[in-house]
Amino acid sequence: MLADKDRIFTNLYGFQSWHLDAARARGDWDNTKDILAKGQDAIIDEIKASGLRGRGGAGFPTGMKWSFMPKESKDGRPSFLVINADESEPGSCKDREIIRHDPHKLIEGALVAGYAMRARAAYIYIRGEYIREAEVLFAAVQEAYDAGLLGTNAAGSGYDFDVFVHRGAGAYICGEETAMIESLEGKKGQPRLKPPFPAGAGLYGCPTTVNNVESIAVAPTIMRRGASWFSSFGRENNKGTKLFQISGHVENPCVVEEAMSIPFSELIEKHCGGIRGGKDNLLAVIPGGSSVPLVPADLIWDAPMDFDGLKEVGSGLGTAAVIVMDKSTDIVRAISRLSHFYKHESCGQCTPCREGTGWMWRMMKRLETGDAAVEEIDMLQQVTKQVEGHTICALGDAAAWPIQGLIRHFRPEIERRIAAAGNMAEAAE
Ligand SMILES: Cc1cc2nc3c(=O)[nH]c(=O)nc-3n(C[C@H](O)[C@H](O)[C@H](O)COP(=O)(O)O)c2cc1C
Ligand code: SF4
Repeated sequence: MLADKDRIFTNLYGFQSWHLDAARARGDWDNTKDILAKGQDAIIDEIKASGLRGRGGAGFPTGMKWSFMPKESKDGRPSFLVINADESEPGSCKDREIIRHDPHKLIEGALVAGYAMRARAAYIYIRGEYIREAEVLFAAVQEAYDAGLLGTNAAGSGYDFDVFVHRGAGAYICGEETAMIESLEGKKGQPRLKPPFPAGAGLYGCPTTVNNVESIAVAPTIMRRGASWFSSFGRENNKGTKLFQISGHVENPCVVEEAMSIPFSELIEKHCGGIRGGKDNLLAVIPGGSSVPLVPADLIWDAPMDFDGLKEVGSGLGTAAVIVMDKSTDIVRAISRLSHFYKHESCGQCTPCREGTGWMWRMMKRLETGDAAVEEIDMLQQVTKQVEGHTICALGDAAAWPIQGLIRHFRPEIERRIAAAGNMAEAAE
């Protein structure tokens, strides 16, 4: 189990105040000037060496992402950092905890990361429904300005850096990085075609990097404690500590910081009081937020909770939002409900996603009650394949994968329902 001394988020549960003085007592904003004095390239190198991979879902190496930003502006355009605090993926509930209880980690991280990528300002885009979190964030940013930590000569570094907080209106698609940029510009939140990539032309046509809240909030601690400290946790290619968010049928659902690669069983037994009704009552787990395929009990139990470990069992770490389902779960209904979510959240730009998410949901709805022919299971699988990889953004894949996981692991259950509903004869005709 991760020792308390190795936790980055020491106020995750809000036992202490989030205000600047308390944050400073916990070590935040401690000689930030010295971190910046190391120089932009040295910061990027340290983050690269730490092995930090993006915590927003895709796991892209963070230091490498920062290095894509231009070292100098050839045409006078400024660069920007956009911090993704949209956190709308069902099951995900970590970024809001950071903002509510440890906002100065994020704000200091914004300065460190923004400086490293030579950005003029950071925009923190927070989902509209997170009203209390936004209030804390606005107040914490003001505290940082009042203390000279942001603005002109931020933290005495000689570097000018601003942080703006922008409230979204509550659309899942605005969490996609280019949709977020569109939304920040005041337009409808719809993803852009890539290329151009944001590092070339992002916010207001300027070089931009979009990073998740957790990716940014861990950066100052990595700089203080060193890349080798951070990379001492987890396996090769899967380094560091990570916020896991465990919900569903465990005794104590929680958000907890743990070492990457912790086995699923240990995470559940040590932090969540075990599966409701015991280990044998586990049915399946969605290990990375609603967009990744489910994993049945026998495959997940010993799996290391990291990018590669979950890929090996046909799923993904995603945001590390671990949704646990015991045997009382109607698994077809659960996935059908997710299909409804994706249908509702599709922005409608691409035909395969706009039409496909509706198709998939309507078929899932009938499979719930068995009101279908057996052949339609393969037909549904085919539709998921026609959506997957054929859209502008990854929402199409996110809608397809949960259904593919269901068919892969629970096909007999779907067939049982069709048989029970008396549709076998019809299917044979
Ligand atoms: C439909 C959709 C929704 C997303 N929602 C979020 C989100 O709420 N928060 C987030 O950090 N990333 C989200 N992402 C991923 C972002 O596009 C982007 O990859 C991420 O913010 C990059 O941060 P990282 O490199 O620090 O992981 C979403 C992606 C898609 C396709
Ligand atoms: S995949 Fe869906 S959500 Fe993404 S751009 Fe296309 S229609 Fe919009």
